[in-house]
Amino acid sequence: MSGIPSAHGPDWEVPLGRRDSLNANQTLANLNLPRPQLNLTQLIFSFSKQGLNITDLVALSGAHTIGRGQCGFFVDRLYDLNNTKNPDPTLNTTYLQTLRTRCPNGVPMVEQDVTSYYSNLRIQKGLFQSDQELFSTPGADTIAIVNSFSSNQTLFFEAFKASMIKMGNIGVLTGTQGEVRTHCNFVNTVSLATKVTKDSAEDGIVSSYQVI
Ligand code: HEM
Repeated sequence: MSGIPSAHGPDWEVPLGRRDSLNANQTLANLNLPRPQLNLTQLIFSFSKQGLNITDLVALSGAHTIGRGQCGFFVDRLYDLNNTKNPDPTLNTTYLQTLRTRCPNGVPMVEQDVTSYYSNLRIQKGLFQSDQELFSTPGADTIAIVNSFSSNQTLFFEAFKASMIKMGNIGVLTGTQGEVRTHCNFVNTVSLATKVTKDSAEDGIVSSYQVI
């Protein structure tokens, strides 16, 4: 893996030759991919359906050390959590003010704090509800895992590598099913000249691909 080490994360051996599907299915993706508004019980259930345990959940959520989130995915936490007209009480109040400034109308994006995902959770600075749930769900087993990853980066890196390999082995196609992709984001048959619009991508034709 080259991307994660260049972001100062761990590296690990990736088995080559993984076969992927020839198309994308938005309905299935929405059924299987957890939403950022899920509570801990729902997150644990969603991961367990894929054979992933709570350590995998906490370790893989650490991928949110990097990247961005569109305001629409967490704006409810800032103004009106579960139709209460109040912000999420598990959100750090200083961070709440920062995020409100960044997301007045739920349009722009917010970068994750690239240094300290787990220690941020401990001071209620998780960006998505699914992040903060790992630490702020009273009595949850995930709290101890967050604490140990926060105080021991080596432990987190080892767990992250193991969980990434485990996740990479979910639903692998075999035999003549699917194909080994030349570029992991695209099916091989999409030529550079093919323009896949947002609409057709949403119809589930291929991984999204746009010629600019
Ligand atoms: C626990 C369940 C998860 C939920 C609910 C979740 C949700 C989200 C959401 C809503 C975004 C923002 C997308 C956007 O605004 O365009 C995001 C970004 C991201 N997620 Fe997750 N995610 C989860 C697990 C994971 C896992 C397992 C990984 C990888 C190991 C991951 C890696 C990332 C990365 C790298 C970004 C930033 C993407 C960018 O900057 O363009 N997430 N996630």
